[in-house]
Amino acid sequence: MHTSTFGHAPVCKHPAWKDHWENLYAEKAPTGVNWHQSHPQHSLSLIGDTGIGTAASIIDVGGGASTLVDHLLQAGYRDITVLDIARTAIQRCQLRLGDLSQQINWVESDITDYSPGRTFDIWHDRAVFHFLTLDRDREFYLEALHNALKPGGQVIIATFSDIGPSQCNGLDVMRYTPGALGRVLGPRLRLVETLTEEHRTPAGGLQQFVYCRFRHN
Ligand SMILES: C[S@@+](CC[C@H](N)C(=O)[O-])C[C@H]1O[C@@H](n2cnc3c(N)ncnc32)[C@H](O)[C@@H]1O
Repeated sequence: MHTSTFGHAPVCKHPAWKDHWENLYAEKAPTGVNWHQSHPQHSLSLIGDTGIGTAASIIDVGGGASTLVDHLLQAGYRDITVLDIARTAIQRCQLRLGDLSQQINWVESDITDYSPGRTFDIWHDRAVFHFLTLDRDREFYLEALHNALKPGGQVIIATFSDIGPSQCNGLDVMRYTPGALGRVLGPRLRLVETLTEEHRTPAGGLQQFVYCRFRHN
């Protein structure tokens, strides 16, 4: 396991990925990165649709400096974990939250190398899974997901849609329809809801995302 809640530097399975994301967060303000949303409407709506209560546990995989955590705290969720490969992203988010950041479990880890040591009711990922372009890395991700998800737990993954960009932030990405994503995730996860988003980047471009909610069988 190469996970850190800080204190020592974790050994990263993909140091080039870590450098890439650390540099992006070091270069730009959290509101200037092209995936920034001030109100993560679709994520909040799908989390609401799971029907879980505020005592349920949620992990935001590749949460970065996303404001999802702010909204979840405001909504009263009490067991929130934010995982990201980039320590700089986590620090940006902690700075924004101030004292509230102490209520969050922070994990600095590559998701393809994450051994959770606990389980969650909800696994949320916006714009991370689509960066995994190799079967091997998707298998590691799914291993972490299945180790981390409670039986009957739910998974929300947002990726670029089949008409979304084929590259983002200098990296190749996979594009998915809900059906294709379901096939990659495998039969243990049943698709129950999808939403489409036209994301407007800070530079004014449009990127189409597809959000899918799955229930563990
Ligand atoms: C496009 S950003 C999306 C951030 C956030 N989910 C949002 O919607 O605002 C991708 C995030 O995933 C993180 N990331 C990329 N690869 C990762 C990996 N293998 N493991 C964990 N985090 C990763 C990046 O540092 C970055 O914060």
